Amino acid sequence: MSISLYAQTYQTWQNDPEAFWEEAAQELHWYKPWDKVLDTSNAPFYRWFTGATTNTCYNCVDKHVEEGRGEQAAIIYDSPVTNTVQTYTYAQLQHEVALFAGVLTAQGTKKGDRVVIYMPMIPQTAIAMLACARIGAIHSVVFGGFAAEELAKRIDDAEPTLILSASHGIEPNRNVAYKPLLDKAVQLAKHKPDACVIYRRKGLEIDLIEGQDIDWQTALSTAEPQDCVPVAATDPLYILYTSGTTGQPKGVVRDNGGHMVALKWSMKNVYDAKPGDVYWAASDVGWVVGHSYIVYAPLLNGNTTILYEGKPVGTPDAGAFWRVIEQHKVQTLFTAPTAFRVIKKEDSEGKLLKGYDISSLKALFLAGERADPDTLHWAENLLKVPVIDHWWQTETSWPQVANCMGMGLLDIKAGSPSKAVPGFDVQVLAEDGNPVAAGETGALVIKLPLPPGCLTTLWKNDQRFIESYLSEFPGFYATGDAGYIDADGYVYVMSRLDDVMNVAGHRLSTGGMEEVIASHPAVAECAVIGKKCAIKGHQPVGLAVLKTGVDIDDDELQAQIVALIREKIGPVASFKTLKVVQRLPKTRSGKILRATLRKIADGEDFAIPPTIDDPAIIDEIRQVFS
Ligand code: COA
Ligand code: AMP
Repeated sequence: MSISLYAQTYQTWQNDPEAFWEEAAQELHWYKPWDKVLDTSNAPFYRWFTGATTNTCYNCVDKHVEEGRGEQAAIIYDSPVTNTVQTYTYAQLQHEVALFAGVLTAQGTKKGDRVVIYMPMIPQTAIAMLACARIGAIHSVVFGGFAAEELAKRIDDAEPTLILSASHGIEPNRNVAYKPLLDKAVQLAKHKPDACVIYRRKGLEIDLIEGQDIDWQTALSTAEPQDCVPVAATDPLYILYTSGTTGQPKGVVRDNGGHMVALKWSMKNVYDAKPGDVYWAASDVGWVVGHSYIVYAPLLNGNTTILYEGKPVGTPDAGAFWRVIEQHKVQTLFTAPTAFRVIKKEDSEGKLLKGYDISSLKALFLAGERADPDTLHWAENLLKVPVIDHWWQTETSWPQVANCMGMGLLDIKAGSPSKAVPGFDVQVLAEDGNPVAAGETGALVIKLPLPPGCLTTLWKNDQRFIESYLSEFPGFYATGDAGYIDADGYVYVMSRLDDVMNVAGHRLSTGGMEEVIASHPAVAECAVIGKKCAIKGHQPVGLAVLKTGVDIDDDELQAQIVALIREKIGPVASFKTLKVVQRLPKTRSGKILRATLRKIADGEDFAIPPTIDDPAIIDEIRQVFS
């Protein structure tokens, strides 16, 4: 039997990981080569390509112009919510990015300074990210669906000298005014930026605050274009905050060198994307999918990337994706399964597809949450292209398990994102740290060192990095997911081990929502669980025990708490349900049995935990969910 290209490549990596990544690094431009491919001197803080200098923006933009791709489309901004399609060639992108880098430097931003970006899905957001990379500033993009308090937490942690924002974002049913949210966040934050540069979009008039705000266009009109600044391969490119188990988000730090090498390698080998192909990740730049596969990876690979400001349905209908594929001749589509579940709900027979020619499409990649077999098969039948589930996280920045299309597709097993990608030694460990047998469920872990591209630490918090990821299973990175690996090496990702849930492909902290609910004066204690949802994967449900003597109508309390979560965390939390209960199921030591609550909410069978302090409570909770 001949060995597959995937198996060969995996073996080549295993035999000599450093040689493997050194070869991959040849595809990129370095001002100075590395002294070491993998630096283990400060393990477990492994570093890739130490001693090298490079510039991510140069590799994403200028290099392609110099190599003759100047006239090719780099970014196509497709915005059904504003009725706009606008193309930036690589040459135009170079001009815009260099000029905006001039806005940053005119404000005194320099290498190593942080720049928070709180912006909608418009080209200026990608331009701003690249401009930061160009001058070695560290960007931290905050998703627009987060409220002022969440933004303030990120401002206090990242301590930016500058914040970039816009007048508003556009959701299908409303404008989301960013400026008041930004102003409130700046007011709430202890750290104050030197200035805020604001992009004014048509459709909402805003006032700028004297002494704080600078108009984006005015600043551009006097800006001097800036060249790329060499940075160390190990210097941070960005910080991206992701939900942990508490309300305090974790600032994932990404480097320049390893990140470029991994993403560039993934475009050819995982996605089978050739330079010049049109690649579309239908996500948001505020998430890691947007960082990696809307902005950096397609540009590093010389692709045309689509920046889509719209939804899978409602902008205007469930045929929106097919329209974009036809219009821009998209070859690769990447989105979250939830997007296909909403399309399926609105147009279960795929009638809207009939009006479009999607023959350019080669594959659909799904990630962000478990791809349920029903949705996967529905998409396969409709699109008649391989539908490829793959598993990764904000922390890794690129897929750790995938069916690597660029190395020839393996058999697809629905329900599994397939096998470990070269670079990742994925294993399943029991609670005691021992490996489990094939097919047995345990903690999904990755053997250290992590490959290039993965987080190097948490911003200003090495200790939390160790505690969150490296302490539980020494020598391994704990992904926080549970699952199993079958006898053929296929990985199955089944659930989270921590109190993080996945709502419409967005990772949210149940702990963060509990903190908000607990702050309501009527609430004595509470729990939030992710209940299964046919469309969004999970939906948050809160359970609250009221303080003795409090008299408030359940519906009124629910309305107040929904509003409170929207105000404190943001609409992205999708929090709609609060149930008042007499008490919560707990262990004798007082720990809330969240896993049991989840099973009751989902109507699943379960064994009553032997540690429960009062088994009678189970029936009470069952009643609440009946
Ligand atoms: N700025 C402000 N508000 C935002 C926002 C943004 N950038 N993005 C979403 N929101 C709001 C929505 O308007 C919604 O508000 P509402 O409760 O007032 O309606 C709320 O946040 C929840 O958003 P979402 O969970 O996305 O629900 P939705 O009903 O608007 O859309 C999907 C559902 C499935 C269509 C959408 O989530 C989607 O397309 N997901 C797939 C792609 C994706 O983004 N994946 C992420 C990682 S790959
Ligand atoms: P995020 O960091 O927001 O991208 O979320 C990462 C988490 O989403 C992972 O830890 C998983 O829990 C979940 N996830 C992502 N992709 C998949 C997948 N293909 N299958 C199952 N779960 C996934």
